[in-house]
Order: sequence, then C-alpha cells, then structure tokens
Amino acid sequence: MTPQERVHLVDLVAGRVSNKRLAHILRVETLAVRLARFWGVSEEKASVASLLHDIVRDKSESSLLEMVKDEGDPLVREIAETSVSVVLHAPVGALIARRDFGVEDPEILQAIAQHTTGAPHMDRLAMIVFLADYCEPGRQFAGVEEVRSLLFSSLEVAMLRALAQTLTYLRGYSRPMDSHTVDAAAAFARLAAEDPQQLQQA
Ligand SMILES: [Fe+2]
Ligand SMILES: [Fe+2]
Repeated sequence: MTPQERVHLVDLVAGRVSNKRLAHILRVETLAVRLARFWGVSEEKASVASLLHDIVRDKSESSLLEMVKDEGDPLVREIAETSVSVVLHAPVGALIARRDFGVEDPEILQAIAQHTTGAPHMDRLAMIVFLADYCEPGRQFAGVEEVRSLLFSSLEVAMLRALAQTLTYLRGYSRPMDSHTVDAAAAFARLAAEDPQQLQQA
C-alpha cells in the first residue's frame, strides 16, 4: 500500500463512519502499526486491518443482520447467532472488507473478525489489532494501564489480562457474554499456565 493508497482508503472509511469513530480508528492504526513494527508483523497488514476494523460499527443491528442474511461463511453465520449484538460488527466488518474493499488476505480478514471477542487461536496480527482497539489512547477505564504496560513484553499475557478484565466487567454488570470471549479467555489462561516463560517476560 503506497501512502496515496492509504490516504484513499482513509477517505473511503471516512465516508462510512462518524468523525468520532474515524478518530478512534486512526488511533487504533497508529498503535497497531507501532506494535507490528515491534513484534515483527507486517505494518501494512496492521494498517489495513485497523482502518477497516470498525467499518460497520455505526450500522444498526438490523442492517448488520440483513447484510449477513445470505452469507455462507460459517464463522459469520455462527457469530450472527450471538446473543451479544455489539460483537456482530466484527465478523460483518470482515465480510465488508472483502466485498467492498477487495481485501483477500485471510490474516487481515481474521484480525477484523476477531477484534471484539478475541478467539482461542489468534495470530500476532489479530492480537495486535484486538489490543490496539482495547488500549488506544482514547480508552480510559480501570485496568487499561495494566494491559498497556504489557503490550511490549507479551502479547499473550496482554490478551489474557484484557479478556479477563472484559469478563469481570460483564459479570459485574450482569451483561451477556459472547461465548467466543469466554473460550478465548480460557485458551489464553491455559497458554499462560503451560508456558510460564511468557508470564515471566511480562
Ligand atoms: Fe469494534
Ligand atoms: Fe474499534
């Protein structure tokens, strides 16, 4: 992606989301690209995935469901069954990234699809987009500093903490939990237990 192509993509995204959302998206991109550089992941993929991650975030639940009505992709179909409607914009965003923006790279599409709930098996790009979304400088909530402090020592431990915080928050407010988040938290906890080396790095 040339700088001009990136500017063009930002323009297209700006045409589909609110100004406030665009500002969030650009902050996610900045942090994700920094993390990609640090962790040896493609900065271009981090940029594209970040710019498109919330592409349908401002659409209503009914229009998102309409968009996936005839979709054959099993992941999208499965997530569309969720009881937690806010997570729907992630897999639908991946769908739109492919359909309207011509993104074919499976890692980018997966990072977009997994950015809200996380998943048991995430590659580095997906963890980076998830964590950049969670930690971008506009985020201010109890616990965010703890996750920020882990970003450059262990992506896995940062994921573990972010997912655990999310579940604690949802439980505290008796909010419904998406099964992918529960499964992802369990998987990262297992990983940390099996590989304490990663915890020590943190
Ligand atoms: Fe999102
Ligand atoms: Fe986001």
